[in-house]
Amino acid sequence: MESRFMDTALEIAFGRMGLTSPNPAVGAVIVRDGTVVSIGGTGPCGSRHAEIAAIGAGGDVTGCDMYVSLEPCCHYGKTPPCTDAIIASGIKKVYAAILDPNPAVAGKGVARLRDSGIEVEIPGMLSQRAADLIRAFKKYILRKRTFVLAKSAVTLDGRIATRTGDSKWVSSEHSRYLVHRIRAKMDAVIIGKNTLLRDDPMLDSRPDSFSDGVKRYFLENRADVFGRDNQFLRSLLSSEISEYRQPLRVLVGLPGEVDFSRKFFRDDGYIVFERKDRLDHFLRNSTGLKSAVMRLNIVDIDARTNAEEIGLILEELADRGIMTAMLEGGGLLAGSFFDAGEIDQVIYFIAPKISGNGISPVIAAGKDEMGLSLPVRDVSVAFAGGDVLYLGYKDVYNFEMM
Ligand SMILES: NC(=O)c1ccc[n+]([C@@H]2O[C@H](COP(=O)([O-])OP(=O)(O)OC[C@H]3O[C@@H](n4cnc5c(N)ncnc54)[C@H](OP(=O)(O)O)[C@@H]3O)[C@@H](O)[C@H]2O)c1
Repeated sequence: MESRFMDTALEIAFGRMGLTSPNPAVGAVIVRDGTVVSIGGTGPCGSRHAEIAAIGAGGDVTGCDMYVSLEPCCHYGKTPPCTDAIIASGIKKVYAAILDPNPAVAGKGVARLRDSGIEVEIPGMLSQRAADLIRAFKKYILRKRTFVLAKSAVTLDGRIATRTGDSKWVSSEHSRYLVHRIRAKMDAVIIGKNTLLRDDPMLDSRPDSFSDGVKRYFLENRADVFGRDNQFLRSLLSSEISEYRQPLRVLVGLPGEVDFSRKFFRDDGYIVFERKDRLDHFLRNSTGLKSAVMRLNIVDIDARTNAEEIGLILEELADRGIMTAMLEGGGLLAGSFFDAGEIDQVIYFIAPKISGNGISPVIAAGKDEMGLSLPVRDVSVAFAGGDVLYLGYKDVYNFEMM
């Protein structure tokens, strides 16, 4: 096994993130005698998987090895099983970085290949990096809920805005450039009502609008990752992002007056969630809002508790094929996801400044004892200009090997 080929497969997988949901982004590399014959990445949902793309591009691949960032599928979904195509192609050995967490596959893909005489190896050493690329898929496939990344730019004293609500800017230009790159990998971005009113954000991905100096900072020698060697972070800092879609804009909480000149409403690429009881109350008390609601992409949530509300939002988003969503503020929104136990990943940009007072990144009911705090696991750290980028997860990723 030559790890450079699996490195390439992982880079391809990262390149496809944000384009394949709710399918996992996968990369495949076909090799003959130490030379790459072809590569492939997952297409948009319903089109070719990475293995099929690589086989299709490779001509006669009889006797070749395949390196793939995720176990090949062996079931009929929107496309036929990749295992059948691999068997038919004459590939003699498959290196898979990690088993598929989808119960319909979960080792059965490997077994199917071995049963037909193909050698399969799960080398282990790159499994951790592969796992970080499919955490969202794991939640989606096991719980049918969208994976939630809580992003915040915070001061050293843990504030996302000053006491007046001003937050432009907490973090460096370098950090903000990375946020635009993260958005390119997200299916949706979510904000709370106060953030809409206070900041009027665009919420799109515009990495090209940053200066060459900022882009070069990461491409040159400052892309080190400390702690867990996280593939998502590694690629986020330094790899080319050539193809991306804009994320769906999601607003939680309808303002009392809807101002359609806000950037959030600039086109149809948005959705608003509001609790049914609150929406009914608003509509009873405002005729102006009634006509605005008719023009809005709005979904009412019939929930009695915060946990129910957040759970239903994440199920509704998952039903729409949204596998990943980034919370982009403010503190109350993040707090309600925290209270519901639905923050899966954090990325904090910690800026070297102290505001002395202001808004916290997570305003929740909270815990009485420090021991009950949410532990953040599998942590990685990098530098972004003068800021520290801190990335971690709620869960330790348990991956199995065969
Ligand atoms: N530094 C950063 O990374 C960053 C990023 C974004 C924003 N910000 C700053 O954050 C500040 C806004 O944050 P914020 O905490 O005041 O407000 P927020 O989280 O943006 O919005 C919260 C409001 O949304 C409504 N809402 C409806 N359903 C909700 C639910 N399930 N959970 C939470 N809220 C829900 C509530 O309105 P009602 O009270 O009417 O019910 C609530 O007050 C701004 O100053 C902005 O500049 C900083």
